[in-house]
Amino acid sequence: MTSSSPEATLDGSYAALAAEYYDAKRHPTSANFRWASERLLERLLPHPPGRSLCEVGAGDSALAAWLAKRRHPLTNLLLTDASAAMLAYSERWARDGARLAVAPATALPVSDESLDLIVASLADPYDESAWWSEVNRVLTPSGRVVLTTPAIGWARAFRHAANEPTASARFVRADGKVVDVPSHIREPADERILIADAGLRLVAEDAVRRTELMAPVSHKLDMIAPQDPVVVAYVVAR
Ligand SMILES: C[S@@+](CC[C@H](N)C(=O)[O-])C[C@H]1O[C@@H](n2cnc3c(N)ncnc32)[C@H](O)[C@@H]1O
Repeated sequence: MTSSSPEATLDGSYAALAAEYYDAKRHPTSANFRWASERLLERLLPHPPGRSLCEVGAGDSALAAWLAKRRHPLTNLLLTDASAAMLAYSERWARDGARLAVAPATALPVSDESLDLIVASLADPYDESAWWSEVNRVLTPSGRVVLTTPAIGWARAFRHAANEPTASARFVRADGKVVDVPSHIREPADERILIADAGLRLVAEDAVRRTELMAPVSHKLDMIAPQDPVVVAYVVAR
């Protein structure tokens, strides 16, 4: 793994969450989101995936698992995350040839127009205009981005009801410490504008609805209707 600068300056508070982020008992909403995000990737990732692949904000890489399941090599896969502690969940993929790098989503360690596929699973911490500009820099002319993010209807209803900040996700750790991490979730119409403003083109949208989730479903998702989206996806090209 390479490291570009101290973790605390890169990732807000994910370092403070990493040890228990994937504990589904402790954080069932995150587990539901991850499951939904993987379903969307199953539906939307291109076959074949391309020659130069990257997952941004990878944590425990969903793309590496997708590739390995289909017996694709991982030697052309770059996994990045602003948090070294979150990226450590993907260290097992390095044994199969994936490269790991600590880097913010807005400064990927690759040259211009070099990535055929970029995956950003649950990208709400960095889903802002600077990230889409970076996508425009690094994507090949025929490349694709698949980004997933929690749905705005849920985020708005939950954060309002819980009296939480609108642009943060609140986690309560096992030790009782409250950790707020950046979470930029917006209406699809506004996401489309962000994408277009970066000079990119939306080619598909999809969503996993609450009714599709596998049990156990977090009580934090009770406030939306069964047909409401839980996680949405955008497929983007040049
Ligand atoms: C909601 S978690 C999702 C992790 C993983 N993609 C998944 O689906 O399980 C968000 C991830 O983005 C990373 N992250 C947060 N801010 C980032 C930034 N500015 N640049 C790159 N990664 C970032 C976090 O460290 C964390 O691993």
